[in-house]
Amino acid sequence: MEGIVALLLSLALPVLAQIPAGVQVPLAEDCSGDGSIVCVNKYAAVLPYPFFRNVSANDFELDFYNTTVATEDTGFELIAGADFVVYNRELGLEYLGSDPTYEFVFEVSSAVHEAPVYAPVQNLLFISQLAPPTGVLPQLVVNLNVDPPTLEEYLPDPPIYAPNGGTFRDGLVIFGASGSNATSPGGTQYVSIRTVDPATNKSTVLLNNYFGSYFNNIDDLAVHPTSREIFFTDPYYSYYNGLTDYAQPQLPPASYRFNPDSGAVVLIDDTLREPNGIAFSPDGSTLYISDTGGVEGSRTPGALGGKTIFNATGPRTIYAFDASNNGTLISNKRSFYLAQDWVPDGVKVAANGVVLTGAGKGVDVIAPTGELILRIQTNYTVQNFAWVGKNLTELWIMGNYGVSRVRWGLVGQELT
Ligand SMILES: *[C@@H]1O[C@H](CO)[C@@H](O)[C@H](O)[C@H]1NC(C)=O
Ligand SMILES: *[C@@H]1O[C@H](CO)[C@@H](O)[C@H](O)[C@H]1NC(C)=O
Ligand SMILES: *[C@@H]1O[C@H](CO)[C@@H](O)[C@H](O)[C@H]1NC(C)=O
Ligand SMILES: *[C@@H]1O[C@H](CO)[C@@H](O)[C@H](O)[C@H]1NC(C)=O
Ligand SMILES: *[C@@H]1O[C@H](CO)[C@@H](O)[C@H](O)[C@H]1NC(C)=O
Ligand SMILES: *[C@@H]1O[C@H](CO)[C@@H](O)[C@H](O)[C@H]1NC(C)=O
Ligand SMILES: *[C@@H]1O[C@H](CO)[C@@H](O)[C@H](O)[C@H]1NC(C)=O
Ligand SMILES: *[C@@H]1O[C@H](CO)[C@@H](O)[C@H](O)[C@H]1NC(C)=O
Repeated sequence: MEGIVALLLSLALPVLAQIPAGVQVPLAEDCSGDGSIVCVNKYAAVLPYPFFRNVSANDFELDFYNTTVATEDTGFELIAGADFVVYNRELGLEYLGSDPTYEFVFEVSSAVHEAPVYAPVQNLLFISQLAPPTGVLPQLVVNLNVDPPTLEEYLPDPPIYAPNGGTFRDGLVIFGASGSNATSPGGTQYVSIRTVDPATNKSTVLLNNYFGSYFNNIDDLAVHPTSREIFFTDPYYSYYNGLTDYAQPQLPPASYRFNPDSGAVVLIDDTLREPNGIAFSPDGSTLYISDTGGVEGSRTPGALGGKTIFNATGPRTIYAFDASNNGTLISNKRSFYLAQDWVPDGVKVAANGVVLTGAGKGVDVIAPTGELILRIQTNYTVQNFAWVGKNLTELWIMGNYGVSRVRWGLVGQELT
């Protein structure tokens, strides 16, 4: 009997393919006249049956636009070709401004491209490349003083091995150096926080141990706006990628704050599987940390060929925390945003408090209340991004295979 019901259902499904009551038609429409901005109506909250979005895998990454929907002429197919997909029309179009542009600027290697730091006085954008287990030197620099900008190799003195995250503090570039290597051209380096003075290109070390234990993979960093302490994440990726010559992890994956004046390092959270992106709201009262545990590898260095594997039901959430008492009290952890595509890697906050994350083939722009407002779409997997320029209205995006830029109305926080 059950078999017959199942058979009847399976026969009936294609016939039932239809637009059920509740579907907002069109699902999506051209908001720019040239298809570059596509507005999704009511978040496509009801899709025609049957629809199917396969689960992504390492070499099979599927965005929202890869969902197959049963009926044609719903406008859904417009989403794939857009540079900007707007979910909240009022705010999304406001943030894009009157003439937003998306431009693919540089083709780069398959390596992870990370740690973008804008040095405002020199008008340079530093970017790292992580091609484990070799090829993590040199870094790259985008010269924004010439038009079109140029991309060159960059080696501070002494060289820094494997920067995985970066920020700017008191005129210095701060890098989270994520690897350990005794034979690197830069000399012995354990996982550490490094600085580079963009005026001289000289580098120094600010932190390289927790009471004698090695850090695992200092990843991304953020400076609290009033305390000026450096907050950082320490996941396990360097072990998976063979970027460290330590035998085994000595510390759990965790996030910390560090006071460069006193030298004190304080644990702020050890509940995330792979803490990764980290950023503050402009007033410093909210801290965001992403958990990218949906991408993990083997804790035996270099095992799985240095690969990590995507797990769609693993952690891929940005968490928000309260940061009170001048950034010394981190509390009230709550789920903030689940990436719709891949894992939320880099996280940064605009001057107006809107949160951005690089997740799969794009950058999501999220209201402080958690709603996705719009998505910048790229044709490569994004790791991170940074605002550049005098007015910080230009966003540079980088990842595996590409560097691109967006000119729009959403202004970045000034990093001093
Ligand atoms: C779903 O994705 C997997 C790869 O992860 C692929 O092998 C499979 O064919 C896909 N299924 C469909 C129905 O597209
Ligand atoms: C996802 O959709 C894009 C755009 O239509 C297409 O180029 C790509 O091949 C699709 N990805 C997969 C894995 O089917
Ligand atoms: C250390 O750096 C050297 C030179 O760049 C490289 O050949 C070696 O593979 C690196 N070792 C590790 C563990 O990354
Ligand atoms: C530092 O590096 C930048 C980028 O390569 C270069 O333009 C600048 O001249 C260098 N500065 C010094 C003092 O070497
Ligand atoms: C926060 O701490 C910094 C560093 O100690 C201090 O300079 C600043 O005045 C403090 N701000 C507030 C609001 O307490
Ligand atoms: C994927 O993540 C979920 C949730 O953490 C876990 O239960 C599951 O075992 C993971 N799958 C694999 C293949 O690691
Ligand atoms: C992305 O698009 C640009 C041009 O628009 C092209 O040059 C580049 O090869 C593409 N990258 C990938 C990974 O498809
Ligand atoms: C920055 O903003 C000022 C004031 O709105 C404007 O005059 C100037 O042209 C802008 N500069 C750039 C590079 O966008």
